[in-house]
Amino acid sequence: MKQVYSKMCDLAKPYYEKGRPMDVSHIEWMMPEALLVCQKEDLDDSLLLPLVILHDVGYAEVPKDHPFKLDVRRAHMAAGVKIARRILEQLNYSKEKTEKIEYYISVHDNWAWGDNEIYKQDIILGTFTDLDYAWMATPKGFLALMKILEKNKQEMFEFLKTNDKLVLRPFSTKTVKDLYESYLEDRQKELF
Ligand SMILES: [Fe+2]
Ligand SMILES: [Fe+2]
Repeated sequence: MKQVYSKMCDLAKPYYEKGRPMDVSHIEWMMPEALLVCQKEDLDDSLLLPLVILHDVGYAEVPKDHPFKLDVRRAHMAAGVKIARRILEQLNYSKEKTEKIEYYISVHDNWAWGDNEIYKQDIILGTFTDLDYAWMATPKGFLALMKILEKNKQEMFEFLKTNDKLVLRPFSTKTVKDLYESYLEDRQKELF
């Protein structure tokens, strides 16, 4: 992993430790997967990686409440932009890229308000949201979301299997689609 991403991660970690209980493992899973996708799909890691590493830092500075509530979502994106800017400035990250990453963070959960188009128009944002979603099918993500959504294993599996995302924001790359499907198969095996 490039040194700048490790440093970014170190600077982001204290925020994640103050965020939701699942946040550290969420980011630890997403980082290496995002790098692999960049290699396989020839995507710009200098945008995707910072977006992945920094997107949820804002949960550190919002009141502890249900993370799916719309006002909490809005607040974590706004707080996240400011924290990300500080971290990227500290790393002397390219100004142009910093602005782009700030924009991505400011809209990363906009699907919750019915905005699906932004993810289809931008491969970085589309791949990001695919990975953010796929995490819920990983062993740790699945358990974390069962708690948050108060679902049992079967219900959580159905939630993923029939999620609107799959229709409204189809996977941007085959790489993440395949990854998600293989995780979901594993979760299905655990049902019986
Ligand atoms: Fe988020
Ligand atoms: Fe996330």
